[in-house]
Amino acid sequence: MDKTSQNKNLHDAKRAKKDEFYTQLADIEAELKHYTHHFKDKVVHCNCDDPRVSNFFHYFSYRFEPLGLKKLITTCYKNQNLDLFSQNDAEKAIYLEYSGTEREGGVPKVADIGIKRLKGDGDFRSAECIDLLKQADIVVTNPPFSLFREYVAQLIAYQKKFIIIGSLNAITYKEIFKLIKESKIWMGYGFNGGNAYFKTPNVRDFAEGVYNKETGLVKFRNVGWFTNLDHSKRHEKLILYKKLHARRIPKIR
Ligand SMILES: C[S@@+](CC[C@H](N)C(=O)[O-])C[C@H]1O[C@@H](n2cnc3c(N)ncnc32)[C@H](O)[C@@H]1O
Repeated sequence: MDKTSQNKNLHDAKRAKKDEFYTQLADIEAELKHYTHHFKDKVVHCNCDDPRVSNFFHYFSYRFEPLGLKKLITTCYKNQNLDLFSQNDAEKAIYLEYSGTEREGGVPKVADIGIKRLKGDGDFRSAECIDLLKQADIVVTNPPFSLFREYVAQLIAYQKKFIIIGSLNAITYKEIFKLIKESKIWMGYGFNGGNAYFKTPNVRDFAEGVYNKETGLVKFRNVGWFTNLDHSKRHEKLILYKKLHARRIPKIR
């Protein structure tokens, strides 16, 4: 391997380590209950998810029948080791395709569905992952925060519907702000009390209070759901407490 590739690998590994936050099932359930009518006969893709540990995989595989899904595809980045956290320590990654169980009411196990190997590292931008993305109707995941701009750009380029988690700082990114202004993307319902708690293997990176030793969770205060699927909160009437007269509109200087 030449020096440039070595440096790139090192950089990718450092970046990927910072992106290891795992979404809790309760948070996925709390948000996705507002979109259940969108999923009938749809192909769902979770493209930053190791099916052996991802709660997005668990959510959609357990609810495959009630949601009326057509297919569930999950792909993971690099890791091939079955342990609680993806450590991005193998160059090749795996994926899984599930089209429903023959046993009515049965809950599928990853081993029964069967894991397949990807040729590459499972990067969502790779050609083979894009081929899987093309099959999808709706993408649902918590993607790497550090690649959020690129991640959203790809979803828009391939005209995918999505429900994804991202930092609220992303609203101020010029590419994301433009999409919000054009009503191509909007916020979902959000996390309880605006606080999101994730599992992370990088516990040493966080101060006490941010990382809770007892629960094993790290707290984020500025994280939300971004989507381009319609939901009823978007249509709630804004109750204004007084009328604004033209002459009272503050001037922007
Ligand atoms: C914030 S974590 C969320 C993991 C999982 N989606 C969840 O919600 O529990 C983002 C995940 O994206 C993976 N990842 C990092 N870079 C990636 C890339 N280029 N392509 C695909 N996945 C990537 C990381 O390994 C990490 O597991």
